[in-house]
Amino acid sequence: MNRRKFLAGAALAGAGAVVGKGVGELISPGFIAQANAKIDGIQKSSFSTTEKITPYNDVTNYNNYYEFSTDKYEPAGLAKNFRTRPWKVKIDGLVNKKQELDVDTIIKMATPEERIYRHRCVEAWSIVVPWVGFSLSELIKKAQPLGKAKFVEFTTIYDPSQMPGQRGGVLDWPYVEGLRMDEAMHPLALLCFGMYGEALPNQDGAPLRIVVPWKYGFKSAKAIVRIRFTDSQPVNTWNRAAPNEYGFYSNVNPTVDHPRWSQAKERRLGEFGKRPTLMFNGYDQVASLYSGMDLKKNF
Ligand code: MTE
Repeated sequence: MNRRKFLAGAALAGAGAVVGKGVGELISPGFIAQANAKIDGIQKSSFSTTEKITPYNDVTNYNNYYEFSTDKYEPAGLAKNFRTRPWKVKIDGLVNKKQELDVDTIIKMATPEERIYRHRCVEAWSIVVPWVGFSLSELIKKAQPLGKAKFVEFTTIYDPSQMPGQRGGVLDWPYVEGLRMDEAMHPLALLCFGMYGEALPNQDGAPLRIVVPWKYGFKSAKAIVRIRFTDSQPVNTWNRAAPNEYGFYSNVNPTVDHPRWSQAKERRLGEFGKRPTLMFNGYDQVASLYSGMDLKKNF
């Protein structure tokens, strides 16, 4: 049985298991949202690469999600029952429209697009993923940040009762990431709620994450509950944990090595040899955001 069929079967088995519960529970959005729901009306995007897409099975079983586990193969199982509805996202800080939005309201703000992006982890492995979402700028424009807002900070949910990794001190929780405002407004920066045409699997950051394809994967925060506009550079979790190893910018750069390993090459999941790392992960259109900046210093 392939994994997709297995997943379909598992969803059905789950439906069987709720027999006997009240009707209210049966039709609760939480239940509906978990069933690998297909996303309708997805448009293609000119930002997509034509490179071979990494199989679904690999992308959904080889994860970095420290709230669940530091092991790559465990988040898929540990996140299975993670509750992604109801889900609110707080938008605050230096913004005209401070508000708390339901994730399903956010998802409907713009037409969903499939963005097939290269995704490069700082650990030197990479994948190609058909994400679904729309440009983060669509949400930011609606929120109307004030002129003095220079950065956007993203905060992941903090819920140790559901996330076993948060019961330990591997990282400072909750997970925080940030972008400079012009980076966040770049059309490539994606507000993401799906992959492979379906709602995001929990282990990949459901119900809402960002995907910043020209930066190392840790910039692409999962399970976002807060988007805060600020005039000072946010302290991102990995920078706080090891400031000499993980910077704020974290642009993919073959010429700036991690202190403990080279970034010149990467291993594409499913391939044996290594391939050269591309500057900005191949997304040259962002280069102008960094003109005049020393990218070795601002790593
Ligand atoms: N977001 C949260 N909240 N927690 C994490 O541990 N890991 C990051 C990023 N976002 C992480 C996170 C890292 S290191 C990578 S490479 C990507 O998620 C992995 O995304 P994927 O598992 O969907 O491939």
